[in-house]
Amino acid sequence: MSDAIRFEDKVVIVTGAGGGLGRAHALLFAKHGAKVVVNDLGGSTHGEGANASAADKVVAEIREAGGTAVANHDSVTDGDKIVQTALDTFGRIDVVVNNAGILRDKTFHKMEDADWDLVYKVHVEGAYKVTRAAWPHLREQNFGRVIFTSSTSGIYGNFGQSNYGMAKLGLYGLTRTLAIEGRKNNILVNAIAPTGGTRMTEGLIPPQVFEQLKPELVSPLVVYLGSATCQETSGLFEVGGGWIGKVRWERSLGAGFDPKAGFSPEDVAAQWQQICDFDGAAHPADNVEALKEMMANLQKYAL
Ligand code: NAI
Repeated sequence: MSDAIRFEDKVVIVTGAGGGLGRAHALLFAKHGAKVVVNDLGGSTHGEGANASAADKVVAEIREAGGTAVANHDSVTDGDKIVQTALDTFGRIDVVVNNAGILRDKTFHKMEDADWDLVYKVHVEGAYKVTRAAWPHLREQNFGRVIFTSSTSGIYGNFGQSNYGMAKLGLYGLTRTLAIEGRKNNILVNAIAPTGGTRMTEGLIPPQVFEQLKPELVSPLVVYLGSATCQETSGLFEVGGGWIGKVRWERSLGAGFDPKAGFSPEDVAAQWQQICDFDGAAHPADNVEALKEMMANLQKYAL
């Protein structure tokens, strides 16, 4: 049995915590002793409207269970206000869980600018604004944990979700760079790609499976990633239904051509199998590792 993971004196923001996965994360953080800022605009899955009661209800639930929480009803696109609520109420910020999200599903040929822009705004700009406002405080105190909510729709693609997939994989790009920039200040940054039975997935997942994919089954990973115990950074984890797995990039060893002599599209075609052969594939962890095979090719043909 591992040591208890506790958050006494730590302040956690969970965005979009008025329902679904965010609510489950907020409740579990509070159960483990964190002071929680429960942010939620309280709009529809399509990003319309607003309702303060979503966040207020979760705050009441936390307090009834003996925990500490405050509500914030701003949009994540006003991230500085959410961070200000944490500072005004609890005097600090330690963990940011970027969870708020909406859907505007449409096939690409029917996609309108408004659907593209709003999905970008809530997921990417929202996560940027909240994290950007928290960042100086995390740096200053040499401690921070940031979690972004990606999606398998971003990792693998999904019909009708070009806007959502773009936003969700964008958040993983943000994760990778913030993990690099945050490391020296003990700010660790990870992303999850969750699956949970929420209003967002209702009707999309068969009812029997939906029932089993309880949002609470995602939260233990999120709380672990938010803890001082966790030393992981730059990770991407698929999680749901009581299962957690880590995702990484895999790249074939590829095919090399003579850079001085040049090569033709026909040469590329002739080597296609080799280019796409994952036997003995590399798993570059950073830019330097990623360039290894390319540099080896230059060296091979030098002279
Ligand atoms: P949900 O619809 O139950 O919860 C999302 C919450 O975000 C809502 O309470 C909503 O009011 C809030 N929200 C929306 N726009 C906001 C804004 N501008 N500012 C503040 N709050 C806002 O959906 P669910 O399933 O709990 O989703 C949580 C996150 O997980 C989202 O980022 C979603 O894209 C992601 N996700 C969920 C999956 C699932 O299987 N449920 C699959 C992959 C990703």
